[in-house]
Parts: sequence; C-alpha cells; structure tokens
Amino acid sequence: FYGGVSLWQLLTGDAQRGATVELPALSVHDQPRYAWRGFMLDSARHFQSTDFVKRLIDAMALHKLNVLHWHLTDDQGWRIEIKKYPKLTEVGAWRVPPGPAAAADIDPATGKPRVYGGYYTQDEIRDVVRYAAQRHIEIVPEIDMPGHAQAAIAAYPELGTGEKPGVSVDWGVHTYLFNVEDSTFAFIENVLDEVVALFPGKYLHVGGDEAAKDRWQASPAVQARLRSLGLKDETALQGWFLERLETMLEKRQRKLIGWDEILESALPPEATVMSWRGTKGALEAARKGHDVVLSPAPQLYLNNLQSLADGELPARLDALVSLQNLYGFEPTPPELTADEARHVLGAQGNLWTEHMRTEAMIEYAVFPRMAALAEFDWSPVGARDWKRFVQRLPAQFERYRALGIGYADSAFRVQATADGTQGTLAAQGKEGQI
Ligand code: ACM
Repeated sequence: FYGGVSLWQLLTGDAQRGATVELPALSVHDQPRYAWRGFMLDSARHFQSTDFVKRLIDAMALHKLNVLHWHLTDDQGWRIEIKKYPKLTEVGAWRVPPGPAAAADIDPATGKPRVYGGYYTQDEIRDVVRYAAQRHIEIVPEIDMPGHAQAAIAAYPELGTGEKPGVSVDWGVHTYLFNVEDSTFAFIENVLDEVVALFPGKYLHVGGDEAAKDRWQASPAVQARLRSLGLKDETALQGWFLERLETMLEKRQRKLIGWDEILESALPPEATVMSWRGTKGALEAARKGHDVVLSPAPQLYLNNLQSLADGELPARLDALVSLQNLYGFEPTPPELTADEARHVLGAQGNLWTEHMRTEAMIEYAVFPRMAALAEFDWSPVGARDWKRFVQRLPAQFERYRALGIGYADSAFRVQATADGTQGTLAAQGKEGQI
C-alpha cells in the first residue's frame, strides 16, 4: 500500500500538473520509523460530516499516517449513537452555539435558541471504520471519562452528582464528572459493548484528562464511596475508576489508552499513555514501562496558530506552532535510554475544534502541517532536512490542489515589520481574538 503511495509521490514530484513524467527503473527500500503515526480529530466541539472524515482519512493515507484518534464525546457534544441510551444523542448531541448572539438567535419553529450539533449513526461509523481499514488506518475511538462528561450527564443526569446541566455552550475545563455508582459502571459497560462492536481496532481511548474534582469533593455519595473503599483522595478514586475501565477493556480484548493524567494514580502496566501536557508524561510513562504516544501541547496541537501572517483563520493563541517548528519535533525524548525509548510508539497531531466551526477551517489548520507530522513519524532521524522539505512543498501543494484539499500557505507569506515589535501575539494585536 505504502509502495503505491510512494509511486504516486514520485509521479507527482513535479509541481507542473500535466507535465510528462519519466521515472527510471528503481526500487524503493523504506519503512516507517514509528508504528503509531496519528492524527486526532475532535468531533465533539464542532461536528464534521462523514464525507469530510473520509476525505481526511484519504489525506492521512496519502501522508502514510495510520491512526485516527476520534474524539467522540465531550462536554459540548456526544457524537456516537448508542442504541441502549438514545438520549445520549437525542439530547447530548445538540447545543446552542457559544456567545450572546447565538443565544438570541431564536428558531421560530421551537421558540428557543437555534441549536447546533449532530452525531454519527452506528451505520455511518461502521462505514467510516471500513473505509479507514481499506486505507490501513485504525480508528481509535475516545470516550472521555470521568471528566468531559457534561453532554452525557445532560442526557442522563443520574450519571452525575445531582445536577441537571445542559450540554455545554462554552469552552474550557468543566466540572461535571461521572459519579462512581455501580449503576454508572453498568452504563459504561453497556456503552463499551456497543463501542467495541463498532471499532475492531486494538485500542480504546478512555480520556482521563482534566477531571476537575470539585463536584466529587462536594458530593456526599462520592465521598461515602471514597471512604468505603479506603482511598486517600479523589485522585486515588480516579485511579480506582480507571482500574475498573481497564478490567472492562481487558474482558473485551481491548487495550486501554488515556491522556497522561492516568499516570497520577496506580496504573495497570498494560495501559498506554498519551503524553499531552508537554513531554514529561512520556518520560515518566516510558520509565515506568508503559507504551507512550507523544502528542504534547503546544508543539503538536494543530489548533494553535500557525503563523503571524495577516489573514490567519481562527486558532488557539497560546502558542505559535509554525510549520518549521513542527517539522523539527523529535518524537523520542533524548532523555530516554534505548530500552525506555522502545516504549515510544510514535507521535500524533491533535486538532481540537473549539475554533474550527467549518470543515474549511480544519483543512487550513491541518495542511500542510500534516506533511511535517508525517515526516517525523515516518522518516529516519537523519533524513529530516527543513530546506529540502520546503523545496518539496510546491509539489505537495499541487497535490493538495489536485485533490481538492484546502491548505494554508501562510508559512510562506512575506511579512514586513517596521518597528521590531514582532514576536508576541499581544504586540501583533492578536490577543483576544480567540
Ligand atoms: C487535552 O488537551 N485535554 C488532552
């Protein structure tokens, strides 16, 4: 399959579309550096059509990526149909867009603010999974627990700690967590049964990130459970939650992967860690013998602004993730010994979609940064060369145009500054545009 992609690349290595191409007889000896060449799509904050997800899968395959991490549940939306719990999508897949203007946008049909959302039916998911498999891409679904659960709790308040929130209409870390009742674990078992039936891949992502403990601390029922288990605190309780998830996944022949917060409590050795709060989680995980995937913020967060050029589309402004800096990322932290480094499965670019309301905005954020990601996930260390990458980009842009993939050329837009105030987003007047 990848030989075919390489041949296509060779045949389209000239930026002149329609030019005659002659290739000498040649043989290609090549292999990927990493087994996990990933891209994460957040379909919870904003929703994308299955056609778009398939086009993204096509593009991933042409970049020789092989893992699509699909972030399907969050505070702002539950996007996967679960037959046993229809309200997850009847209620949990719909929200009012953020901001006062949207709240004032009354739908005459209902007399209420117009809602935004959508979800994937099980038939659609099966179709996308099959499409990905044909392109040698495994889809790793993420069901985020115990935090980022507000949409699920909006649908079934009995899963939470006594409140009845709506589906979130705002960004940031929220405090609605699944509770720790046996009935909630029964719910999770049932959800996982349906998820596992849809996704035949080895891994299932259980989230674990940003589970702010305020409501667990305030809930008498959660506190009673914590005490009866003899646990020290809420972090230990999340560890206990996670162990239950691990057991559930093992029973279903799946491997658990979660964000690096899962390292904060006792963690079964089989668990794989996704290092996102920088790379320190990767060091700790590999040293403790866990497999690890590098997807650190801000370096591999493709929702971050990519240049200071005028006309950039909405993006996160905490950090600039330029094409050149991204290209220079090294997935295996040099601090690891050779033995520890064997636990590094690879690296993954993450695309959180708070600021990506449209599919065009997603393409702009992703391409050509996906090409940079592909090089450090695939190529041997010594083969990386920024100048040569830049020389090859006009041909890559021509491929994007031929395939109808929107991309950003802002890395190459000339910028002139007159007074030496470049360098901070504030100085550029870009603060507050989030
Ligand atoms: C994350 O960015 N919350 C994993």
